[in-house]
Amino acid sequence: MSNFINDLVPAYISELAPYVPGRPIEEVERELNMHAIKLASNENPLGPSPRAIEAAQKALANSNRYPDGSGFYLREALSKKHAISADHIILGGGSTELIDLSGRIALVPGDCGVTSYGSFPLYHIAIRGTGARYFDVPMREYHFDLEAIAREMPEETKLIFLANPNNPTGTMFSADQLDAFLARIPENILVVLDEAYCDYVDDSNYSRSVEIVRSGRNLLVLRTFSKVYGLAGLRIGYGIGPAALLAEMNKIRGPFNTSGIAQAAGLAALDDSEHVRRSVESNRAGLTLLTSGLTRLGIKYVPSVANFLLVIFGTDTEPLVEALLQHAVIVRPMRWMGFPSAIRVTVGTHEENLKFLQALAEVQKAGVHKSAAHAHSLLGSNTSAI
Ligand SMILES: Cc1ncc(COP(=O)(O)O)c(C=O)c1O
Repeated sequence: MSNFINDLVPAYISELAPYVPGRPIEEVERELNMHAIKLASNENPLGPSPRAIEAAQKALANSNRYPDGSGFYLREALSKKHAISADHIILGGGSTELIDLSGRIALVPGDCGVTSYGSFPLYHIAIRGTGARYFDVPMREYHFDLEAIAREMPEETKLIFLANPNNPTGTMFSADQLDAFLARIPENILVVLDEAYCDYVDDSNYSRSVEIVRSGRNLLVLRTFSKVYGLAGLRIGYGIGPAALLAEMNKIRGPFNTSGIAQAAGLAALDDSEHVRRSVESNRAGLTLLTSGLTRLGIKYVPSVANFLLVIFGTDTEPLVEALLQHAVIVRPMRWMGFPSAIRVTVGTHEENLKFLQALAEVQKAGVHKSAAHAHSLLGSNTSAI
């Protein structure tokens, strides 16, 4: 780095590893010169709700004007949906902006932010980017170990990030487990509960998060329009939390952090429960297809309640991801998220899921035919589902 940048940028930022997004489908198609399928970023394969597209197109015509910075209509609709007053709701340019804001609102150098190793990497960036200390606790059997976090977090902890379901493991903790955890966490610590994938979960003891906020607890719940609502490209998410906390966060967010187009699309998407139902149903069928296909191939996976699967192999998966890319299937290697011998595959459409399984079978076969050692290095020797 040039000297003046070295002098300018604090070490706690220059030492950070950048977030690695999934490869854009256009880039891969350009390189391979063929149509590719992207199962790499946990997006909705059915696309946005047609109503959201129509609303976005209408809003586009007003793009000469700044949007309503408070997102009044969308916050009103969310307030109704969650039975909580609108001053408990904050909008963000995706929930990732609110992850970043959570770090900025709660942490200064000398404080500590906590999460689990093997969770969403942006928590690490949001904590370290403030100059605060980062502390993580290992997962237990691919799950957040809430007990260990409560027991081991340093005294100077001011912020805790939890993802439920967790990305990339696809696992969840129950509402009862969260209650027990919160009972052990002092109120001066902000707990951020990221529920980006909540709509996919089919478990009656999954979450009472909004109820907890209503009760006055210091909890910030994050939701997004990027997943089941299919609006990842428009960048809109929201937080539900204590009104006094959100008032402070509003002071430091960009005044027009969500576009009028995104607000209008979000509002229309909320109304299209049929699209949400279809998306959840398609995901459920896709998970069943993928897990039974993987079992047939003798490949391990972590059972998922979300719209993606962590698939486990015997060794480093970079070569496997490259081999799948040659079949025009984009998945993510998971070394950078803490699981070097895993890939994460997003549930796609029926055809995409079949194509993934077929490509995987071909890569597996090619590996086996080339040499047993190579096959072993690509796909591992484990045969049972976990
Ligand atoms: C746990 C988790 N939180 C938040 C996000 C980002 O959501 P958004 O698109 O709303 O910024 C993701 C996206 O992959 C995620 O996995």
